[in-house]
Amino acid sequence: MEHALDITLTVNGTPVSRRVQARQHLVDFLREELGLTGAHVGCEHGVCGACTVRVDGAIVRGCLMLAVQANGCRVETVEGLSDSKEIARLQKAFHEKNALQCGFCTPGMLLAAQDLILSSKKPTREEIRNHISGNYCRCTGYQAIVDAIEEVTRG
Ligand code: FES
Ligand code: FES
Repeated sequence: MEHALDITLTVNGTPVSRRVQARQHLVDFLREELGLTGAHVGCEHGVCGACTVRVDGAIVRGCLMLAVQANGCRVETVEGLSDSKEIARLQKAFHEKNALQCGFCTPGMLLAAQDLILSSKKPTREEIRNHISGNYCRCTGYQAIVDAIEEVTRG
């Protein structure tokens, strides 16, 4: 029989308490229990980065972390971060540079880019490429994404 546990965490600034299945992944918890569908489920194996969210300030793969592991943590998704200065500027730049097509990778890409902006003021294009190397995009060829992130970092 599946094991269920009670967890309490903060999601986008709001305290949340739920009983979850021990094996439920964080991204599935966010999407299915809380309706936060900004983080996507792609590979489910920690490879594509579509499921990226922030936990206690660090970006993590929501498909590799269990919901129970987020007990007591501060979780932020693209929905909660979209008012932040960096994400708002990134969204504008992504739009202007055509850095998204299907948009599947975009929430994870925005969180990875924000993480870089918060840690490094003027990254090189190489550093930008390295930082988003764990976020796969099937559509754009990455050039426009790097252009958009670079524009924001040159601010
Ligand atoms: S769905 Fe998590 S890394 Fe691909
Ligand atoms: S815009 Fe389609 S996967 Fe990146």
